Amino acid sequence: MPALRCELQDGIAVVTLDLTDHPVNVISRAVKDEFNATFERLAAEPGAQAVALFSGKPDNFIAGADIEEFVKLSSAAEAERLSADGHEMLSRVAAFPKPVVVGIHGACLGGGLEFALACAYRVATDHPKTQLGLPEVQLGLLPGAGGGQRLPRLIGARAALDIILAGKVERARKAFQLGIVDELVPPAILRDITLAAAKKLAGGWRPRRKRPGGFVGWVLDGNPLGRMLVFRMARQQVLKQTGGNYPAPLAALEAVEYGLRHGIAEGLKREAQLFGRLAVTDVSRKLVQIFFATTQLKKDYGVADEVKRLCIVGAGFMGAGIAGTAVAQAGVDVRMKDSDLPRVAKGLIAAREILDDRLKRRRITKYEHTRLIALVSGSDSYAGFGRADLVIEAVFEDLQVKQQVLREVEAATPEHAVFASNTSTIPITRIAEAAQRPERVIGMHFFSPVARMPLLEVIPGARTTPGTVSTAVAFGRRMGKTAIVVKDTPGFWINRILAPYMNEAGHILLEGVAIEEIDRLMVQWGFPVGPITLLDEVGLDVAQKASGVLHAAFGDRLVPAPVFALLVKDGRLGRKAGKGFYKYANGKKRGVDPAAYALVGVHPNGGVRPAEILQRVVLTMLNEAARAVGEGVVRSPRDGDIGALFGFGFPPFRGGPLRHVDDLGAARVVADLERLADRCGERFSPCEVLQDQARRHGKFYP
Ligand code: 3HC
Ligand code: NAI
Repeated sequence: MPALRCELQDGIAVVTLDLTDHPVNVISRAVKDEFNATFERLAAEPGAQAVALFSGKPDNFIAGADIEEFVKLSSAAEAERLSADGHEMLSRVAAFPKPVVVGIHGACLGGGLEFALACAYRVATDHPKTQLGLPEVQLGLLPGAGGGQRLPRLIGARAALDIILAGKVERARKAFQLGIVDELVPPAILRDITLAAAKKLAGGWRPRRKRPGGFVGWVLDGNPLGRMLVFRMARQQVLKQTGGNYPAPLAALEAVEYGLRHGIAEGLKREAQLFGRLAVTDVSRKLVQIFFATTQLKKDYGVADEVKRLCIVGAGFMGAGIAGTAVAQAGVDVRMKDSDLPRVAKGLIAAREILDDRLKRRRITKYEHTRLIALVSGSDSYAGFGRADLVIEAVFEDLQVKQQVLREVEAATPEHAVFASNTSTIPITRIAEAAQRPERVIGMHFFSPVARMPLLEVIPGARTTPGTVSTAVAFGRRMGKTAIVVKDTPGFWINRILAPYMNEAGHILLEGVAIEEIDRLMVQWGFPVGPITLLDEVGLDVAQKASGVLHAAFGDRLVPAPVFALLVKDGRLGRKAGKGFYKYANGKKRGVDPAAYALVGVHPNGGVRPAEILQRVVLTMLNEAARAVGEGVVRSPRDGDIGALFGFGFPPFRGGPLRHVDDLGAARVVADLERLADRCGERFSPCEVLQDQARRHGKFYP
């Protein structure tokens, strides 16, 4: 099926891109060929004075180059050719003898935006679905169809680097403010306005664009000295943020800088070379796998009944976070209940803060802010639960309290309502023992802070029906979360694999390694924060409770390192208490607290070698992850890896713990674990799954 349709309308060639056999528009080799042929024809078409490009998809403009094609690339030279072909096509568009304009509605990303940048004029809708950006570095790539050349020339080097180096995607309004888009219009008039612009351009009109960034922009972007400064600062920042683990942002920086220094033609050549090199790196392969795994995951468990009213019991820290996020993301009607009105009020304020923050960051308008706030209400009774489709409880972590709440909720809600518990340690099947409708009971385990943490564990109990699972997964997605469905076993997936990792950090601390050294090593390895900082963030009391449950369930292997209880006893609960392993003042981390060492009874003395520290904390997590996969805690290695990436920031360029085991090879992991078991204790004994893989040369992924 051809992807392009072309019709003449009042002297304008209206070209519509619609890959009918694909959910979104992408620029594949075949699409490029079609574009080339179409433009060749239109150049010679006397009836067309200008070209206007639209998408035939209701909510998508162009999602970028076809990522499927990247997977098949086998050499840097082949990837470079792919990029150069894109350049050729877009250079033709940019130099087309008739003006080419685009009307953008829906996602306009990567190669899609690069296409738009090659056009003479860009009109976009002000709809939330219209988002523009260059997310290539998120895939370990750089904008390889001229984005690194045309964007800085349009909006200035600083603003362009801000987008390119972080792989940012901006809403249309922001893109308009930045000067990426020339006109912002409501969807209903997109076509008319775009055609009118095409007509005017054909008549000789030229849009006057302001110099990007005003005077400061001129000082910094407009002269070589200023630019040198901009690039030096950007390079420093990239190195700081990537820790040298991600080559793409640095390569993107080089492509932009080279192009500004040597001109667009040379810049494009350099861009293609660097794109070629990046496309075949292991990092890019891993990030592309993560993209596909995440999109696949979005489709599991089908679509469920739409939740219109969400009720929440327990307006504390988690309940308020869930309420605020649900209303901000899903726009549902939310009712909160707690045992007394002052607590409800506190919860309402905390939920509202999430909306205030979105307003401050201009993610929502003032009007939306007011509308969404009106959707959240609270009470100290179950009034309003009669219309609930989904109830999430976030009361104290106590089986009796949760079961009592479940009974009350069942009495107050309609038959079809799902009851979800946000418990982090209690088996869902135990909670459901008190239920009249156990088939509608499920776990929805959010992570704190709810507004920011992207993962949701959905935990069916023994009698939960598939429809209930779908409802929980679908609602989690509407809240913007990536949901994985996990087995109802202690610690579920995330806490199960985090516990041995945290414990090992505790053991290592007791052997005299400095707190900041452990954290530094793990950040260097690729985690966003080290294990001790993470403990402070999660709260030592919360971690202690979870590790106690895991110890009871799995025995000596998961015995908590003796350090944590000592800190909890001293009231050092972490950031929320203003003190933990680190000191905090005015909400900011202020370095390690020497008192923590005194409490634990150690002095940092160098202790274990860095290589061994890394091996111990990483391998213990991989071992537990492999064991849990063997027990069916996650439904596939894919779910397990995505969970670890989104749940606690396992380094994306390593693909996830199970992918990492595959990379290392089970035989090597087993041998290393055996050595550690001899030296440090039985907790390192390799699990059966790994031993079996080592024997059979097996892997988690085919
Ligand atoms: N290439 C290939 N397939 C793509 C794709 C792409 N660029 N973008 C989306 N898809 C596929 C998905 O894999 C999925 O396929 P499936 O239904 O067969 O599993 C389908 O399109 C629908 O995707 P989503 O479920 O993600 O749909 P949403 O509506 O939720 O989101 C989107 C749409 C915002 C466009 C999102 O898919 C997205 O972010 N896509 C990737 C954007 C991107 O990274 N673009 C840059 C590509 S690299 C590039 O352009 C290089 C250039 O510089 C040379
Ligand atoms: P919290 O103490 O901040 O909030 C609990 C709220 O529940 C309080 O406002 C309390 O008044 C209310 N409550 C207690 N019994 C009630 C009842 N019978 N009826 C109505 N309200 C009642 O606790 P937090 O941290 O929000 O935790 C709630 C749940 O979320 C727990 O099950 C916890 O294990 C779980 N969780 C906590 C995480 C965290 O990091 N804090 C992370 C993930 C899950």
